Amino acid sequence: MKEKKERIFLIGFMASGKSTIGKELAKELNYDFIDTDRFIEKEIGMTIPIIFEKFGEDFFRKKESEILISIVTKKNVVISVGGGLPCHNNNMSLLKKTGKVIFLKSGFEVYYERLQQMKDRPIANKLSPNELKKLYTSRLPIYTQADFTILSNRLIPLVVKRIIHLIFKK
Ligand code: S3P
Repeated sequence: MKEKKERIFLIGFMASGKSTIGKELAKELNYDFIDTDRFIEKEIGMTIPIIFEKFGEDFFRKKESEILISIVTKKNVVISVGGGLPCHNNNMSLLKKTGKVIFLKSGFEVYYERLQQMKDRPIANKLSPNELKKLYTSRLPIYTQADFTILSNRLIPLVVKRIIHLIFKK
């Protein structure tokens, strides 16, 4: 795992734009792109809400960690991880050990507004606004262990440019 720049992890709360920004960043760097949620869905052959419904959160968290272990050896890749992944099973230390970790940050109100429109987030869908805010607050100390924190509620090309500058000093 010599060159951490070969793996860039995007972390952050649900609806923080990890996948959209990740895809653009990968295109710009000519890296592959992986989204851990899509990876899990493909492997199990079910959507995230169905996986939660059928097997529960513990099963999903176990899968997330297994999949993470299987992809951290890839090179030249941008990986957007599910919002809860860094906060379970000591995954954050594996992210930091194997790559550059970027926390995409917005205000809670931005996530909340976006999540109102999304019906495929089983964790968010079952929580009241207060509980969701508590969850966000409890995750912040983990997210902020990232190598870099970037405000993500700006135009996507600007966010991508900033990430490239911070990691590659370009
Ligand atoms: C989760 C976030 C989701 C997905 C699952 C659980 C979470 O990913 O992994 O619904 O616990 O925050 P996104 O961050 O892409 O929404």
